[in-house]
Amino acid sequence: MGSMEASTAPENGAAAAGGGAACNGAGPVSNGGGVERRLRSSTASASWAAHLPLEVGTRVMCRWRDQKLHPVKVIERRKGLSSSSPADYEYYVHYTEFNRRLDEWVKLEQLDLETVETDVDEKVEDKQGHEELDAASLREHEEFTKVKNIAKIELGRYEIDTWYFSPFPPEYNDCPKLFFCEFCLNFVKRKEQLQRHMKKCDLKHPPGDEIYRCGTLSMFEVDGKKNKVYGQNLCYLAKLFLDHKTLYYDVDLFLFYVLCECDDRGCHMVGYFSKEKHSEESYNLACILTLPPYQRKGYGKFLIAFSYELSKKEGKVGTPERPLSDLGLLSYRGYWTRVLLEILKKHKSNISIKELSDMTAIKADDILSTLQSLDLIQYRKGQHVICADPKVLDRHLKAAGRGGLEVDVSKLIWTPYKEQG
Ligand code: ACO
Ligand code: ZN
Repeated sequence: MGSMEASTAPENGAAAAGGGAACNGAGPVSNGGGVERRLRSSTASASWAAHLPLEVGTRVMCRWRDQKLHPVKVIERRKGLSSSSPADYEYYVHYTEFNRRLDEWVKLEQLDLETVETDVDEKVEDKQGHEELDAASLREHEEFTKVKNIAKIELGRYEIDTWYFSPFPPEYNDCPKLFFCEFCLNFVKRKEQLQRHMKKCDLKHPPGDEIYRCGTLSMFEVDGKKNKVYGQNLCYLAKLFLDHKTLYYDVDLFLFYVLCECDDRGCHMVGYFSKEKHSEESYNLACILTLPPYQRKGYGKFLIAFSYELSKKEGKVGTPERPLSDLGLLSYRGYWTRVLLEILKKHKSNISIKELSDMTAIKADDILSTLQSLDLIQYRKGQHVICADPKVLDRHLKAAGRGGLEVDVSKLIWTPYKEQG
């Protein structure tokens, strides 16, 4: 199952080009530590009206939802509906201190025109979070994805504000809200279309095999080759919350692990991760997402832990695909810290990085960088040595936050992917 009935929404999924799964967001939660910008006050402030409408690229202070002024750069502008006055434009702005997910359309009255700065050189802060892209790809990425195309989605019980651009087929662009079937992930433009679809859709859980069930939590493994439309729809949906995700990968090459909370109405997706069927680089996870209404409840850590349990069953070490987003890095750092320090506590540090890697399936580089960032590594006689004082370990463990939901390995019924035929 999982492919659409042509009659309900012929425009879905199938038309997508590729729609793959190797992703990644970028940028810190807040770029706050970055460059403190001093905006020069315009000497021509009295005649600020002369600036209107503001040019794309203008820098100005903007009142944000915290009611404070923050520096922004104008990314795009559009005319207001009613008149042709230059004061009627709306501006799509990027808050240079914050992640791109907070980019938004603002009205003129939110901007402090006294602070308008035009023709400024590219500033370093715009590159933050994109260190791993070269200038040309960065420009291309930003040009193509500069304005969020879909503002909201409805999925199951939730209406969710989106974070980033997603390359839906053109007929969906500038649709203020998309309605998703929470089971097959087909999407339509109008509520009535969704209601009609829900009467016909006979899925009550993701397609594919249920490989884990513990209490009300279930994990489904979906093969992108067997369920192409589902895989593509999932990618369109996920991209709304992931900044970097290259779409030229084919979903055929991926498995999708979809985590659900189940009740008598069905299995409701809370998040997922994708995994290449074969990875040259020992990636055990391509993209990870917890849907916003379910975030900060431990599902992210559960998904990460699950990806390492699969690696253990494969007898391989694994690492997430790079670059990691700000939230991805925080979640991984937290997971690695907790897992590694729990072991170090028990073994009183008489353990090597190789042994830690064998026990956890965490790649040695990630172990080294985690322990180095906690200052637990010394370099002696050409070798990295772990130095772990129990009190220091406890302090770091406390700082690493809550443990999250545990994966009960006894409930995982799974064999590694094998090409059929
Ligand atoms: N602010 C500060 N810290 C945060 C935040 C936040 N908004 N969100 C997560 N964290 C940190 C915290 O340390 C948290 O632990 P704590 O709650 O005990 O303090 C830890 O990360 C993980 O929390 P979880 O509840 O287990 O994770 P969650 O279910 O929220 O999912 C995830 C984390 C998947 C990264 C989620 O934020 C998400 O989907 N983000 C959008 C997509 C994304 O960026 N994915 C990663 C891209 S990289 C890649 O795919 C390889
Ligand atoms: Zn459906």
